[in-house]
Amino acid sequence: MPAPVQRRLIFAHIDEPGYTPDLACYRRHGGYEVMKRAFARPPAELIDEVKKSGLRGRGGAGFSCGLKWTLVDRKSGKPIYLVVNADESEPGTFKDRYIIHQDPHQLIEGAMITCWANNVQQAYIYIRGEFPHGARILEKAIAEARAANLVGKNILGTAYSCDLFVHRGAGAYICGEETGLIESLEGKRPYPRIKPPYFPAVLGLYQCPTIVNNVETLCHVKHIADLGGDAYARIGTPNNTGTRIYCVSGHVQRPGYYEFECGKITMGQLLHEVCGGPLPGRKFKAVIPGGSSAKVLRFGEKFNIKQKDGSMSELGVEDLPLDFDTLAAAGTMGGSGGIIVMDDSVNMVEALANLNAFYAHESCGQCTPCREGSLWMKKISARMVHGGARPQDGELLKNVADQIAGRTICAFGEACAWPTQSFVQKFGDEFAGYSAAKKEPPAESVPLI
Ligand SMILES: Cc1cc2nc3c(=O)[nH]c(=O)nc-3n(C[C@H](O)[C@H](O)[C@H](O)COP(=O)(O)O)c2cc1C
Ligand code: SF4
Repeated sequence: MPAPVQRRLIFAHIDEPGYTPDLACYRRHGGYEVMKRAFARPPAELIDEVKKSGLRGRGGAGFSCGLKWTLVDRKSGKPIYLVVNADESEPGTFKDRYIIHQDPHQLIEGAMITCWANNVQQAYIYIRGEFPHGARILEKAIAEARAANLVGKNILGTAYSCDLFVHRGAGAYICGEETGLIESLEGKRPYPRIKPPYFPAVLGLYQCPTIVNNVETLCHVKHIADLGGDAYARIGTPNNTGTRIYCVSGHVQRPGYYEFECGKITMGQLLHEVCGGPLPGRKFKAVIPGGSSAKVLRFGEKFNIKQKDGSMSELGVEDLPLDFDTLAAAGTMGGSGGIIVMDDSVNMVEALANLNAFYAHESCGQCTPCREGSLWMKKISARMVHGGARPQDGELLKNVADQIAGRTICAFGEACAWPTQSFVQKFGDEFAGYSAAKKEPPAESVPLI
């Protein structure tokens, strides 16, 4: 593959000297012109463009955006809502916050085009409670847009009215799960709902059809409306179209946000050429490619990946193109685009104990396997790092995780089980050797029970 060059759609202006998050600056850079043109087109045409674009959601599951919009129940006679998921609670993910801070009008424009396309008259941006600064920026930006007749009544002099509100969450990981988010938006505890029947497209906010999309996804909608679905689909790779923001954190020389065509950069290129490689004297050991819930990859492991021509190739971690399908074929996921890098200084048992503490804290508690299992995984891994490891602990941890995945109301069950399953499977040597190992004081980041 040739040396990677960033392709910036979402970050086209972000980080440009003098680029500010206010309406005047956004308009000087062509802001809201795409929306003006979109409002002159029939809504169904815009839905078609999004379908043609092949856009997949950037919030975690990579679900087709066009298909999601098509599934909306338009015959019920109930209002249709748009909810922008700005919860961004997946550890290792920090792109939505950056978009909100640097370019809030891009999100508002994408959201308003989505509202027009789907006949939405009321939309909400649900922002995580720990992002008060982002919430204030959004509130200011919406007020500016409303004053300029870009949001609210008779937008741009048309007969179409649509209001947009910011709703601040109280701060819980599970508020990012779309049905938990909807419950929270309704003023209740964020207990995820059972699907079926509570598919948001049919029974969402206030039991009405609701579209829930991620911040980055909705920014892409603006670019699809601008370029056209076919042209957008030529960016990236088949079935993995458009650009993607990768948030790289952990043990690399240049962590940060990088936007590339989806699938046109490999993990090795990103970590070595873009992020400057490992820290001096260190080697890469493991990487979590799509937020902390994605299964960990161990440097040195090999995967059999089907190529475009149908042949199979054996690829190492560094050879994997960063797209949804390749990462799924490697047994993990592209998820939220949060890439967490660990070098050979990391004790994998401690790293897992840290993750398990997070998941046990964030389980909403509705399902017994998740509520009890996440707590057990936390207790076992914390006991291990605090000097009480037993030879069978790795196996025990995996056993608990296996009893959670696939047995819960929402995908948090998988999110909390996958780290344990993959850490134990891939670093079994460290888990097995732990009870015999010399007990070093654990890292401060590992909480005691
Ligand atoms: C436990 C859990 C946490 C989630 N957190 C987020 C989040 O913080 N932000 C987000 O956009 N999606 C999150 N999701 C995914 C949402 O449920 C939903 O699929 C997404 O917002 C849909 O948007 P998209 O199709 O544009 O990706 C989470 C899912 C689960 C199971
Ligand atoms: S899987 Fe966990 S977070 Fe999801 S509903 Fe059940 S208990 Fe709550």
